[in-house]
Amino acid sequence: MEAPKRCFEILLLLLLLVSANPNAFIHRALAEGVTPEEAKQLRDEVRGMFYHAFNGYMEHAFPLDELRPLSCGGEDTLGGYALTLIDSLDMLALLGDWEHFASSVEWIGKNLQFDINKTVSVFETTIRVLGGLLSAHLIASDYATGMKIPSYDNQLLNLAEDLARRLLPAFETPTGIPFGSVNLLHGVDEHESKITSTAGGGTLTLEFGVLSRLMNDPIFEQVTKNAVRGLWARRSKLNLVGAHINVFTGEWTQKDAGIGTSIDSFYEYLLKAYLLFGDEEYLFIFQEAYAAAMHYLYNDPWYVEVNMDSAAIVWPLFNSLQAFWPGLQVLAGDIDPAIRTHRAFFSVWKRYGFTPEGFNLATLSVQQGQKSYPLRPELIESTYWLYKATRDPRYLDVGRDMVASLQYGARCPCGYCHISDVEFHKQEDHMESFFLAETVKYLWLLFDLAVGPDNLVENGPYKYQTRRNHGSRGGNLT
Ligand SMILES: *[C@@H]1O[C@H](CO)[C@@H](O)[C@H](O)[C@H]1NC(C)=O
Repeated sequence: MEAPKRCFEILLLLLLLVSANPNAFIHRALAEGVTPEEAKQLRDEVRGMFYHAFNGYMEHAFPLDELRPLSCGGEDTLGGYALTLIDSLDMLALLGDWEHFASSVEWIGKNLQFDINKTVSVFETTIRVLGGLLSAHLIASDYATGMKIPSYDNQLLNLAEDLARRLLPAFETPTGIPFGSVNLLHGVDEHESKITSTAGGGTLTLEFGVLSRLMNDPIFEQVTKNAVRGLWARRSKLNLVGAHINVFTGEWTQKDAGIGTSIDSFYEYLLKAYLLFGDEEYLFIFQEAYAAAMHYLYNDPWYVEVNMDSAAIVWPLFNSLQAFWPGLQVLAGDIDPAIRTHRAFFSVWKRYGFTPEGFNLATLSVQQGQKSYPLRPELIESTYWLYKATRDPRYLDVGRDMVASLQYGARCPCGYCHISDVEFHKQEDHMESFFLAETVKYLWLLFDLAVGPDNLVENGPYKYQTRRNHGSRGGNLT
């Protein structure tokens, strides 16, 4: 399961304060490699990457969900509601593209509807669609963003509420942990699986919590917080959680604890829910969960998967979804291990030009059956956070390498292609919406920061982020 970074847009808008170790904020001279002028060029190159893929989507796939970038067609992959457009809205705003932003918001307000007979993933629908609608709503409502749409009348917020209400039946389980999928018209299907992943149940709090605040209706926040409590109540004696759980009995059906596949964003949303809402219950759970992960899963600089009860190692594998972790550690103020782990993960990227889904740490080779790189953002996101915290120019070299990999290896006729085998760089006819919503965005943010004092995110007309902590949220959270 993908580690979503959708919440990032919301965090931007609510002025999330990055709680990095203050000692890490040592500004160093930029490397010979990437001067501020070159950072500007790289930022423009990334902008060009965005439009190559966005225009390809609009021309060949819209209003289907996702682009087929090799054959220049489209496909419905989630609910059939212009997923890639919804997921791209905030990036259009970041790029200052008011015309595309405004016309897209208007189209969505007029044409999207959720009373459709489709069974969809609660997790993917929340992080990509609900999150996309909510962040675009906040952007379109606020003069200060420079993206205010005069005719806008809460259409996206109303859509978000309608969608979230259609997801609510999934939470009607004895444990409070939601079913993995729900039908938008009928509620939970009769034969729906009762097994869900920890990430699937624990990665909903940000979007639902924001919706509760905007609608002044606590129900959305309540059900998702209850789901987190349901998962955490079933942790092992070691404070580890497994990968899959039965939402009726509360029994773990897959007991491999790790920070990658099926669990990843459970950790991420604990910390970000605390940062966004200031709710200390999330912080306490995060602190215990994080300490256990560092004790049982961290094998400096790698992370392994262990049995959640015995802590016996089951998989000595680098899993590409783990790559969000150093970024999360920056937010938690734990920079040193983040630096070492990022360096190790990037060494895998360097070796192949991309990270494979699985890299075997025992044989130091690509894991059979896990050879693909589906344009994932996680390592790039961590690169951005680490650069933001340390201003170490090495991270700009990393970003430049990544741009080169994508431009030479993944660029294809109408967008960017999945890589089905990182050893042979074989392209596949698919482009997930998160390529535009996350992968390209974090590259753009990285080079924007490196542009220097007149970067847009920190110093542009709209202050997406403040530079320092204030008050109690500063310092090291762990
Ligand atoms: C919903 O879709 C399912 C299968 O796709 C179909 O069997 C069912 O009849 C549909 N229900 C309605 C009310 O359209």
